[in-house]
Amino acid sequence: MTSDLKSEIMTDSKKLSFDSSKIQDDFPILETKINGHRLVYLDNAASSQKPEAVINALDNFYKTTNSNIHRGLHTLAEKATNAYEHCREHVAKFIGGVSCEEIIFTSGTTESTNLVANSWGNENIGEGDEILITEMEHHANLVPWVLLAQKKNALLRQIPITTDGTLDLTDINKLINEKTKLLAVTHMSNVLGTINPIKELIELAHKNGALTLIDGAQAVPHMPVDVKDLNADFYCFSSHKMLGPTGVGVLYGKKEILEKMPPYILGGEMIREVSFEKVTFNDLPHKFEAGTPNIADVVAFDTALTYLENIGMENIRNHEIEISKYAIEKLTEIEGITIQGPLDETIRGAAISFTDRDVHPHDISTFLDSRGIAIRAGHHCAQPLMKVLKTVATARASFYIYNDRADVDYLAETVKEMRRYFRG
Ligand SMILES: Cc1ncc(COP(=O)(O)O)c(C=O)c1O
Repeated sequence: MTSDLKSEIMTDSKKLSFDSSKIQDDFPILETKINGHRLVYLDNAASSQKPEAVINALDNFYKTTNSNIHRGLHTLAEKATNAYEHCREHVAKFIGGVSCEEIIFTSGTTESTNLVANSWGNENIGEGDEILITEMEHHANLVPWVLLAQKKNALLRQIPITTDGTLDLTDINKLINEKTKLLAVTHMSNVLGTINPIKELIELAHKNGALTLIDGAQAVPHMPVDVKDLNADFYCFSSHKMLGPTGVGVLYGKKEILEKMPPYILGGEMIREVSFEKVTFNDLPHKFEAGTPNIADVVAFDTALTYLENIGMENIRNHEIEISKYAIEKLTEIEGITIQGPLDETIRGAAISFTDRDVHPHDISTFLDSRGIAIRAGHHCAQPLMKVLKTVATARASFYIYNDRADVDYLAETVKEMRRYFRG
Protein backbone atom coordinates (compact mmCIF):
# COMPACT_ATOMS: atom_id res chain seq x y z
CA MET A 1 0.00 0.00 0.00
CA THR A 2 1.33 3.46 -0.83
CA SER A 3 2.38 5.46 2.23
CA ASP A 4 -0.05 8.27 1.20
CA LEU A 5 -2.97 5.94 1.47
CA LYS A 6 -1.76 4.46 4.72
CA SER A 7 -1.47 7.88 6.37
CA GLU A 8 -4.87 8.88 5.02
CA ILE A 9 -6.41 5.86 6.73
CA MET A 10 -4.40 6.26 9.91
CA THR A 11 -4.97 9.99 10.41
CA ASP A 12 -8.70 9.98 9.90
CA SER A 13 -10.14 7.42 12.28
CA LYS A 14 -13.69 8.55 11.54
CA LYS A 15 -13.24 7.78 7.89
CA LEU A 16 -14.50 4.25 7.73
CA SER A 17 -14.01 3.39 4.10
CA PHE A 18 -11.12 4.15 1.77
CA ASP A 19 -10.24 4.97 -1.78
CA SER A 20 -10.13 1.66 -3.62
CA SER A 21 -8.77 3.25 -6.78
CA LYS A 22 -5.52 3.97 -4.88
CA ILE A 23 -5.36 0.41 -3.60
CA GLN A 24 -5.68 -0.84 -7.17
CA ASP A 25 -2.17 0.50 -7.87
CA ASP A 26 -0.75 -2.10 -5.49
CA PHE A 27 -2.16 -5.01 -7.53
CA PRO A 28 -0.14 -5.53 -10.74
CA ILE A 29 -2.67 -7.97 -12.23
CA LEU A 30 -5.33 -5.25 -12.30
CA GLU A 31 -3.40 -3.58 -15.14
CA THR A 32 -4.09 -6.64 -17.31
CA LYS A 33 -6.35 -6.25 -20.31
CA ILE A 34 -8.93 -9.01 -20.78
CA ASN A 35 -10.39 -9.24 -24.27
CA GLY A 36 -9.24 -5.67 -24.88
CA HIS A 37 -10.92 -4.31 -21.73
CA ARG A 38 -9.68 -3.23 -18.32
CA LEU A 39 -9.87 -6.23 -15.98
CA VAL A 40 -12.69 -5.83 -13.47
CA TYR A 41 -12.04 -8.67 -11.07
CA LEU A 42 -15.22 -9.73 -9.27
CA ASP A 43 -14.35 -13.32 -8.40
CA ASN A 44 -12.87 -12.61 -4.99
CA ALA A 45 -14.96 -15.20 -3.16
CA ALA A 46 -13.14 -17.84 -5.24
CA SER A 47 -9.70 -16.28 -4.71
CA SER A 48 -8.41 -12.76 -4.20
CA GLN A 49 -5.65 -11.04 -6.16
CA LYS A 50 -2.24 -10.42 -4.55
CA PRO A 51 -0.59 -7.07 -3.84
CA GLU A 52 2.96 -6.42 -5.01
CA ALA A 53 4.16 -6.67 -1.39
CA VAL A 54 3.01 -10.32 -1.16
CA ILE A 55 4.48 -11.20 -4.57
CA ASN A 56 7.79 -9.61 -3.47
CA ALA A 57 7.75 -11.47 -0.15
CA LEU A 58 7.48 -14.77 -2.00
CA ASP A 59 10.24 -13.80 -4.40
CA ASN A 60 12.40 -12.52 -1.55
CA PHE A 61 12.01 -15.72 0.45
CA TYR A 62 13.39 -17.85 -2.37
CA LYS A 63 16.18 -15.33 -3.07
CA THR A 64 17.35 -14.78 0.50
CA THR A 65 15.92 -17.29 2.99
CA ASN A 66 14.97 -20.59 1.35
CA SER A 67 15.69 -23.63 3.49
CA ASN A 68 13.75 -26.36 5.22
CA ILE A 69 12.55 -25.52 8.73
CA HIS A 70 12.59 -26.92 12.27
CA ARG A 71 15.44 -29.33 11.57
CA GLY A 72 18.62 -27.66 10.27
CA LEU A 73 21.08 -25.90 12.56
CA HIS A 74 22.56 -23.62 9.91
CA THR A 75 21.83 -19.90 9.53
CA LEU A 76 19.35 -20.18 6.66
CA ALA A 77 17.41 -22.94 8.41
CA GLU A 78 17.06 -20.73 11.45
CA LYS A 79 16.05 -17.70 9.36
CA ALA A 80 13.42 -19.69 7.48
CA THR A 81 12.10 -21.25 10.72
CA ASN A 82 11.82 -17.82 12.33
CA ALA A 83 9.98 -16.39 9.32
CA TYR A 84 7.53 -19.33 9.27
CA GLU A 85 6.89 -19.17 13.02
CA HIS A 86 6.53 -15.39 12.84
CA CYS A 87 3.53 -15.91 10.56
CA ARG A 88 2.01 -18.30 13.07
CA GLU A 89 2.33 -15.63 15.77
CA HIS A 90 0.78 -13.09 13.40
CA VAL A 91 -2.19 -15.35 12.60
CA ALA A 92 -2.72 -16.02 16.31
CA LYS A 93 -2.87 -12.25 16.92
CA PHE A 94 -4.98 -11.55 13.81
CA ILE A 95 -7.87 -13.76 14.97
CA GLY A 96 -8.07 -12.44 18.49
CA GLY A 97 -4.87 -13.20 20.36
CA VAL A 98 -4.85 -16.96 20.77
CA SER A 99 -1.87 -19.20 21.53
CA CYS A 100 0.52 -20.26 18.74
CA GLU A 101 -0.06 -23.87 19.84
CA GLU A 102 -3.64 -23.43 18.66
CA ILE A 103 -2.72 -22.43 15.09
CA ILE A 104 -2.20 -25.33 12.66
CA PHE A 105 -1.09 -24.53 9.12
CA THR A 106 -2.92 -26.62 6.52
CA SER A 107 -3.26 -26.33 2.75
CA GLY A 108 -6.60 -24.53 3.02
CA THR A 109 -10.02 -24.50 4.64
CA THR A 110 -10.76 -27.84 2.98
CA GLU A 111 -7.83 -29.56 4.65
CA SER A 112 -8.73 -27.91 7.96
CA THR A 113 -12.26 -29.35 7.98
CA ASN A 114 -10.97 -32.74 6.83
CA LEU A 115 -8.41 -32.74 9.63
CA VAL A 116 -11.13 -32.23 12.23
CA ALA A 117 -13.46 -34.81 10.65
CA ASN A 118 -10.76 -37.47 10.38
CA SER A 119 -9.08 -36.85 13.71
CA TRP A 120 -11.64 -35.49 16.20
CA GLY A 121 -14.67 -36.84 14.29
CA ASN A 122 -13.35 -40.34 13.94
CA GLU A 123 -12.71 -40.56 17.68
CA ASN A 124 -15.74 -38.73 19.00
CA ILE A 125 -18.70 -39.39 16.71
CA GLY A 126 -20.59 -42.62 17.29
CA GLU A 127 -23.79 -44.39 16.34
CA GLY A 128 -26.89 -42.26 16.88
CA ASP A 129 -24.92 -39.03 17.42
CA GLU A 130 -25.94 -35.93 15.50
CA ILE A 131 -23.87 -33.50 13.47
CA LEU A 132 -25.63 -30.24 12.67
CA ILE A 133 -24.75 -28.16 9.60
CA THR A 134 -26.80 -25.68 7.54
CA GLU A 135 -28.35 -25.80 4.09
CA MET A 136 -25.88 -23.17 2.90
CA GLU A 137 -22.60 -25.04 3.47
CA HIS A 138 -19.76 -25.18 0.95
CA HIS A 139 -18.80 -28.78 0.09
CA ALA A 140 -15.63 -28.29 2.19
CA ASN A 141 -17.82 -28.14 5.28
CA LEU A 142 -20.31 -30.72 4.09
CA VAL A 143 -18.71 -33.68 2.33
CA PRO A 144 -16.47 -34.64 5.31
CA TRP A 145 -19.56 -34.70 7.58
CA VAL A 146 -21.71 -36.67 5.11
CA LEU A 147 -19.05 -39.37 4.93
CA LEU A 148 -18.34 -39.35 8.66
CA ALA A 149 -22.05 -39.67 9.45
CA GLN A 150 -22.33 -42.60 7.02
CA LYS A 151 -19.27 -44.33 8.44
CA LYS A 152 -20.42 -43.95 12.05
CA ASN A 153 -24.16 -44.40 11.57
CA ALA A 154 -24.65 -40.90 12.86
CA LEU A 155 -27.30 -38.44 11.74
CA LEU A 156 -26.42 -35.34 9.69
CA ARG A 157 -29.02 -32.63 10.22
CA GLN A 158 -29.34 -29.21 8.59
CA ILE A 159 -30.56 -25.82 9.75
CA PRO A 160 -32.89 -24.70 6.91
CA ILE A 161 -32.82 -21.30 5.25
CA THR A 162 -35.64 -18.79 4.81
CA THR A 163 -36.69 -17.40 1.45
CA ASP A 164 -34.54 -14.33 2.04
CA GLY A 165 -31.43 -16.52 2.44
CA THR A 166 -30.89 -16.26 6.19
CA LEU A 167 -30.91 -19.19 8.62
CA ASP A 168 -34.38 -20.26 9.73
CA LEU A 169 -33.90 -20.64 13.47
CA THR A 170 -37.56 -21.47 14.26
CA ASP A 171 -36.72 -25.06 15.30
CA ILE A 172 -33.19 -24.47 16.50
CA ASN A 173 -33.93 -25.73 20.02
CA LYS A 174 -34.95 -29.07 18.53
CA LEU A 175 -32.12 -29.17 15.99
CA ILE A 176 -29.49 -28.60 18.67
CA ASN A 177 -30.16 -31.17 21.37
CA GLU A 178 -28.36 -33.55 23.71
CA LYS A 179 -27.51 -35.88 20.79
CA THR A 180 -25.70 -33.10 18.91
CA LYS A 181 -21.96 -33.68 19.10
CA LEU A 182 -20.85 -31.06 16.57
CA LEU A 183 -22.26 -27.88 15.07
CA ALA A 184 -20.35 -27.13 11.84
CA VAL A 185 -21.50 -23.85 10.30
CA THR A 186 -20.27 -21.30 7.80
CA HIS A 187 -19.61 -17.83 9.18
CA MET A 188 -20.48 -16.24 5.83
CA SER A 189 -22.09 -18.01 2.88
CA ASN A 190 -20.04 -18.01 -0.31
CA VAL A 191 -23.26 -18.07 -2.37
CA LEU A 192 -25.81 -15.97 -0.48
CA GLY A 193 -23.38 -13.65 1.28
CA THR A 194 -25.33 -14.19 4.51
CA ILE A 195 -23.42 -13.57 7.74
CA ASN A 196 -24.70 -16.11 10.26
CA PRO A 197 -25.29 -15.39 13.97
CA ILE A 198 -22.55 -17.80 14.94
CA LYS A 199 -21.88 -16.42 18.40
CA GLU A 200 -25.44 -17.25 19.46
CA LEU A 201 -25.29 -20.64 17.73
CA ILE A 202 -21.99 -21.49 19.42
CA GLU A 203 -23.46 -20.60 22.81
CA LEU A 204 -26.49 -22.78 22.19
CA ALA A 205 -24.32 -25.69 21.01
CA HIS A 206 -22.15 -25.43 24.12
CA LYS A 207 -25.23 -25.40 26.36
CA ASN A 208 -26.10 -28.77 24.81
CA GLY A 209 -22.59 -30.13 25.24
CA ALA A 210 -21.67 -29.98 21.53
CA LEU A 211 -18.43 -28.70 20.00
CA THR A 212 -18.42 -26.13 17.21
CA LEU A 213 -16.53 -25.75 13.97
CA ILE A 214 -16.82 -22.53 12.01
CA ASP A 215 -15.98 -22.30 8.32
CA GLY A 216 -14.54 -18.79 8.16
CA ALA A 217 -13.24 -18.95 4.57
CA GLN A 218 -15.48 -16.03 3.55
CA ALA A 219 -15.41 -14.16 6.86
CA VAL A 220 -11.77 -13.70 7.96
CA PRO A 221 -10.81 -11.90 4.70
CA HIS A 222 -13.64 -9.40 5.04
CA MET A 223 -14.30 -8.50 8.67
CA PRO A 224 -12.67 -8.50 12.11
CA VAL A 225 -12.90 -12.01 13.59
CA ASP A 226 -12.11 -12.81 17.22
CA VAL A 227 -12.31 -16.56 17.78
CA LYS A 228 -11.93 -16.14 21.54
CA ASP A 229 -14.89 -13.79 21.72
CA LEU A 230 -16.92 -16.18 19.54
CA ASN A 231 -15.78 -19.05 21.75
CA ALA A 232 -15.46 -21.32 18.69
CA ASP A 233 -13.81 -24.69 19.29
CA PHE A 234 -12.47 -24.92 15.73
CA TYR A 235 -12.25 -22.14 13.15
CA CYS A 236 -10.99 -22.62 9.57
CA PHE A 237 -9.89 -20.24 6.79
CA SER A 238 -7.65 -19.90 3.70
CA SER A 239 -4.81 -17.48 2.87
CA HIS A 240 -5.60 -17.21 -0.85
CA LYS A 241 -8.95 -15.50 -0.26
CA MET A 242 -7.27 -12.77 1.81
CA LEU A 243 -4.46 -11.51 -0.46
CA GLY A 244 -2.08 -14.34 0.49
CA PRO A 245 -0.71 -17.20 -1.61
CA THR A 246 -2.59 -20.37 -2.51
CA GLY A 247 -1.82 -23.60 -0.65
CA VAL A 248 -1.98 -22.15 2.88
CA GLY A 249 -4.85 -22.54 5.29
CA VAL A 250 -5.39 -22.28 9.01
CA LEU A 251 -7.06 -24.50 11.52
CA TYR A 252 -7.55 -22.80 14.86
CA GLY A 253 -8.48 -25.23 17.62
CA LYS A 254 -8.72 -24.88 21.39
CA LYS A 255 -5.56 -26.30 22.93
CA GLU A 256 -7.31 -28.68 25.31
CA ILE A 257 -9.23 -30.21 22.40
CA LEU A 258 -6.27 -30.40 19.98
CA GLU A 259 -4.15 -32.04 22.66
CA LYS A 260 -6.55 -34.97 22.92
CA MET A 261 -6.85 -35.45 19.15
CA PRO A 262 -4.74 -38.02 17.28
CA PRO A 263 -2.55 -36.77 14.41
CA TYR A 264 -4.12 -36.78 10.97
CA ILE A 265 -1.08 -37.15 8.68
CA LEU A 266 1.87 -39.22 9.80
CA GLY A 267 5.56 -38.78 8.99
CA GLY A 268 8.45 -36.43 9.77
CA GLU A 269 8.20 -33.52 12.24
CA MET A 270 5.00 -34.69 13.93
CA ILE A 271 6.86 -37.20 16.10
CA ARG A 272 8.80 -36.98 19.35
CA GLU A 273 10.37 -40.45 19.31
CA VAL A 274 10.15 -43.29 16.84
CA SER A 275 11.24 -46.90 17.07
CA PHE A 276 10.16 -49.93 15.07
CA GLU A 277 7.73 -50.73 17.85
CA LYS A 278 6.47 -47.39 19.05
CA VAL A 279 5.83 -43.75 18.09
CA THR A 280 5.24 -40.78 20.38
CA PHE A 281 3.94 -37.50 19.06
CA ASN A 282 5.37 -34.00 19.00
CA ASP A 283 3.83 -31.07 20.90
CA LEU A 284 1.23 -28.77 19.41
CA PRO A 285 1.08 -27.43 16.79
CA HIS A 286 3.74 -29.67 15.16
CA LYS A 287 1.76 -32.83 15.90
CA PHE A 288 -0.53 -31.79 13.04
CA GLU A 289 2.10 -30.55 10.58
CA ALA A 290 3.81 -33.66 9.26
CA GLY A 291 6.38 -33.34 6.48
CA THR A 292 7.82 -30.21 4.88
CA PRO A 293 5.14 -27.54 5.00
CA ASN A 294 4.43 -24.81 2.47
CA ILE A 295 7.14 -22.57 3.92
CA ALA A 296 7.47 -19.81 1.32
CA ASP A 297 3.73 -19.31 0.99
CA VAL A 298 3.25 -19.16 4.75
CA VAL A 299 5.98 -16.51 4.95
CA ALA A 300 4.28 -14.45 2.22
CA PHE A 301 0.92 -14.88 3.99
CA ASP A 302 2.47 -12.95 6.88
CA THR A 303 2.89 -9.97 4.52
CA ALA A 304 -0.75 -10.28 3.39
CA LEU A 305 -1.87 -10.03 7.02
CA THR A 306 0.21 -6.87 7.48
CA TYR A 307 -1.30 -5.37 4.34
CA LEU A 308 -4.84 -6.04 5.60
CA GLU A 309 -4.01 -4.66 9.05
CA ASN A 310 -2.66 -1.46 7.53
CA ILE A 311 -6.04 -0.87 5.92
CA GLY A 312 -7.92 -2.13 8.99
CA MET A 313 -10.43 -4.98 9.04
CA GLU A 314 -13.16 -2.66 10.34
CA ASN A 315 -12.55 -0.34 7.38
CA ILE A 316 -12.69 -3.31 5.02
CA ARG A 317 -16.03 -4.43 6.47
CA ASN A 318 -17.43 -0.91 6.11
CA HIS A 319 -16.18 -0.62 2.55
CA GLU A 320 -17.94 -3.89 1.70
CA ILE A 321 -21.17 -2.78 3.33
CA GLU A 322 -21.08 0.32 1.10
CA ILE A 323 -20.23 -1.58 -2.05
CA SER A 324 -22.82 -4.31 -1.39
CA LYS A 325 -25.54 -1.70 -0.86
CA TYR A 326 -24.65 0.01 -4.11
CA ALA A 327 -24.36 -3.25 -6.09
CA ILE A 328 -27.70 -4.53 -4.76
CA GLU A 329 -29.36 -1.23 -5.71
CA LYS A 330 -27.90 -1.30 -9.21
CA LEU A 331 -28.60 -4.97 -9.93
CA THR A 332 -32.16 -4.99 -8.57
CA GLU A 333 -32.99 -2.07 -10.88
CA ILE A 334 -32.38 -4.33 -13.88
CA GLU A 335 -35.53 -6.06 -15.12
CA GLY A 336 -35.26 -9.88 -14.99
CA ILE A 337 -32.42 -9.99 -12.43
CA THR A 338 -33.00 -11.60 -9.02
CA ILE A 339 -30.50 -11.47 -6.17
CA GLN A 340 -30.15 -14.72 -4.22
CA GLY A 341 -29.56 -13.88 -0.57
CA PRO A 342 -30.39 -11.06 1.83
CA LEU A 343 -30.90 -7.58 0.41
CA ASP A 344 -29.92 -5.92 3.68
CA GLU A 345 -26.22 -5.07 3.33
CA THR A 346 -25.69 -4.98 7.11
CA ILE A 347 -26.28 -8.72 7.51
CA ARG A 348 -24.36 -9.88 4.49
CA GLY A 349 -20.96 -9.75 2.83
CA ALA A 350 -20.03 -8.65 -0.66
CA ALA A 351 -20.45 -12.00 -2.45
CA ILE A 352 -23.57 -11.28 -4.50
CA SER A 353 -25.23 -14.11 -6.39
CA PHE A 354 -27.84 -13.34 -9.00
CA THR A 355 -29.90 -15.10 -11.61
CA ASP A 356 -31.45 -13.84 -14.82
CA ARG A 357 -35.00 -14.84 -15.77
CA ASP A 358 -33.92 -15.52 -19.36
CA VAL A 359 -30.16 -16.14 -19.51
CA HIS A 360 -28.16 -19.05 -18.05
CA PRO A 361 -25.42 -18.03 -15.53
CA HIS A 362 -22.73 -19.57 -17.76
CA ASP A 363 -23.82 -17.33 -20.64
CA ILE A 364 -23.85 -14.33 -18.30
CA SER A 365 -20.30 -15.11 -17.21
CA THR A 366 -19.05 -15.63 -20.77
CA PHE A 367 -20.62 -12.36 -21.93
CA LEU A 368 -19.19 -10.39 -18.99
CA ASP A 369 -15.76 -11.94 -19.62
CA SER A 370 -15.88 -10.65 -23.19
CA ARG A 371 -16.08 -7.17 -21.62
CA GLY A 372 -13.24 -7.79 -19.12
CA ILE A 373 -15.37 -8.68 -16.09
CA ALA A 374 -14.45 -11.83 -14.14
CA ILE A 375 -17.35 -13.33 -12.18
CA ARG A 376 -18.10 -16.92 -11.18
CA ALA A 377 -20.98 -18.96 -12.55
CA GLY A 378 -21.98 -22.41 -11.36
CA HIS A 379 -23.03 -24.21 -8.21
CA HIS A 380 -20.18 -22.65 -6.18
CA CYS A 381 -19.42 -26.00 -4.48
CA ALA A 382 -22.82 -25.84 -2.81
CA GLN A 383 -24.99 -28.29 -4.75
CA PRO A 384 -27.47 -28.97 -1.91
CA LEU A 385 -28.03 -25.21 -1.58
CA MET A 386 -28.73 -24.95 -5.32
CA LYS A 387 -31.49 -27.55 -4.83
CA VAL A 388 -32.97 -25.51 -1.99
CA LEU A 389 -32.85 -22.40 -4.23
CA LYS A 390 -34.49 -24.48 -7.00
CA THR A 391 -31.78 -23.63 -9.48
CA VAL A 392 -28.72 -25.38 -10.89
CA ALA A 393 -26.41 -22.40 -10.89
CA THR A 394 -26.09 -18.70 -10.13
CA ALA A 395 -23.86 -15.91 -11.38
CA ARG A 396 -21.82 -14.43 -8.54
CA ALA A 397 -20.04 -11.08 -8.40
CA SER A 398 -17.87 -10.85 -5.29
CA PHE A 399 -16.10 -7.66 -4.28
CA TYR A 400 -12.99 -6.82 -2.29
CA ILE A 401 -10.83 -3.88 -1.23
CA TYR A 402 -9.76 -2.89 -4.76
CA ASN A 403 -13.30 -2.78 -6.15
CA ASP A 404 -15.11 0.54 -6.29
CA ARG A 405 -18.39 2.07 -7.42
CA ALA A 406 -17.05 2.39 -10.96
CA ASP A 407 -16.72 -1.42 -11.04
CA VAL A 408 -20.35 -1.77 -9.90
CA ASP A 409 -21.52 0.72 -12.56
CA TYR A 410 -19.60 -1.15 -15.25
CA LEU A 411 -21.03 -4.48 -14.06
CA ALA A 412 -24.61 -3.16 -14.09
CA GLU A 413 -24.23 -1.56 -17.54
CA THR A 414 -22.69 -4.74 -18.95
CA VAL A 415 -25.47 -6.92 -17.46
CA LYS A 416 -27.99 -4.65 -19.24
CA GLU A 417 -26.03 -4.97 -22.48
CA MET A 418 -25.92 -8.75 -21.99
CA ARG A 419 -29.70 -8.87 -21.64
CA ARG A 420 -30.15 -6.87 -24.84
CA TYR A 421 -27.73 -9.21 -26.62
CA PHE A 422 -29.40 -12.47 -25.55
CA ARG A 423 -32.98 -11.30 -25.78
CA GLY A 424 -32.50 -9.58 -29.14
C1 LIG B 1 -17.40 -20.89 2.51
C2 LIG B 1 -16.24 -21.65 1.97
N1 LIG B 1 -15.75 -22.68 2.65
C3 LIG B 1 -14.71 -23.40 2.23
C4 LIG B 1 -14.07 -23.10 1.05
C5 LIG B 1 -12.91 -23.94 0.61
O1 LIG B 1 -11.73 -23.18 0.64
P1 LIG B 1 -10.39 -23.77 0.03
O2 LIG B 1 -10.70 -24.12 -1.40
O3 LIG B 1 -9.43 -22.63 0.14
O4 LIG B 1 -10.01 -24.95 0.82
C6 LIG B 1 -14.54 -22.04 0.28
C7 LIG B 1 -13.93 -21.72 -1.02
O5 LIG B 1 -14.53 -21.15 -1.89
C8 LIG B 1 -15.65 -21.28 0.75
O6 LIG B 1 -16.13 -20.26 0.07
